[in-house]
Amino acid sequence: MPNKKAIITGSGGLIGSECVRVLHDSGWDVVGLDNDMRRQFFGEAGTTRPVVQDLRDTLPRYRHLDLDIRDRQAIRELFEAERPDFVIHTAAQPSHDKAASIPYEDFDVNAGGTMNLLVAARDYCPEAPFCFTSTNKVYGDRPNFLPLVEHEKRYDYANGLDGIDETMSIDACLHSVFGASKVAADIMCQEFGRYFNMPVGIFRGGCLTGPQHAAVELHGYLTYIVVCAITGKPYIIRGYKGKQVRDQIHSRDVASLFLEFYRQPRCGEVYNLGGGRSNSISILETIDLLAGLGFKLQYDYDETHRTGDHICYISDLTKVRTHFPAWKPERDLPAIVDEIILQHVGR
Ligand SMILES: NC(=O)c1ccc[n+]([C@@H]2O[C@H](COP(=O)([O-])OP(=O)(O)OC[C@H]3O[C@@H](n4cnc5c(N)ncnc54)[C@H](O)[C@@H]3O)[C@@H](O)[C@H]2O)c1
Repeated sequence: MPNKKAIITGSGGLIGSECVRVLHDSGWDVVGLDNDMRRQFFGEAGTTRPVVQDLRDTLPRYRHLDLDIRDRQAIRELFEAERPDFVIHTAAQPSHDKAASIPYEDFDVNAGGTMNLLVAARDYCPEAPFCFTSTNKVYGDRPNFLPLVEHEKRYDYANGLDGIDETMSIDACLHSVFGASKVAADIMCQEFGRYFNMPVGIFRGGCLTGPQHAAVELHGYLTYIVVCAITGKPYIIRGYKGKQVRDQIHSRDVASLFLEFYRQPRCGEVYNLGGGRSNSISILETIDLLAGLGFKLQYDYDETHRTGDHICYISDLTKVRTHFPAWKPERDLPAIVDEIILQHVGR
């Protein structure tokens, strides 16, 4: 029996590279697409070339293609030639803040690139499960309208709400240009699931993190703040008194969930995906955690919060846990932070 074959877009990125490793470890052949556009978005610090080189050097069944997902014809030819068993689509312009200054590129990559992949998948591998990395930014700033309570170091939901589930409206709120381009892709993925009956899963990520992130100020919050604390680089807290909350999930737990989706796919299903309440942390709490580990962050406070930024976002994981009972996130917050520190102190 030949090995199963996956196409993974954004294979040099945080989630893409982790998916490459997890699938390769599980015996898959993997074709990865990444044109290092992250470097174009964020400059040299954002390059994912070293990660790609490492995949090429260490994984014998990994094949890299320097392909741009905006290149419709090339994507069609690739899917026609490879006819993969599984598609994981993570390539993106991933920054909420960056998108406003590069709206064409943001939309062409996030919406147009996703469309190219969906149509190619429909035409050449319609049975192949297809995982799309959407974002909690599709909910725009609607989470900010939930009643909140302010604690000493964090905001939290009032009325005992555990987290945000998939029933929250994505309509009629402020999204950012990035949030809107991801809404387009998210809805189109749902449509290919429902209209064409394709096994497409839409995963609305909270804070996805891990040591492999080529973190920059505009994307990769947890790794970036840890690196600032280690290196002494000043960090700027932007608004909300530093009490804004995010739930963190390790990239390997994301990749293992995608494998579960491969085993039990559904058509056009949407999932909120993050670390959940137990892996949630505010900026002030992150600063305390790092200080406790011996890394004192130098920081300034800017009262202006990022446009449309969430005050408190914690994913309700009930649906994902119900549909995939075999899946359990394995890395808690201290383990995630330790791993990031280890990776960067060792450099
Ligand atoms: N990291 C997070 O906190 C987070 C949160 C929610 C959603 N997401 C989503 O998850 C996905 C993966 O995020 P990530 O953190 O791994 O991002 P990343 O920036 O680390 O990886 C994306 C990769 O895609 C590549 N890429 C960009 N444009 C491309 C193009 N046109 N053609 C080919 N490759 C291209 C980049 O070079 C980069 O290596 C994205 O869709 C992102 O929107 C991420």
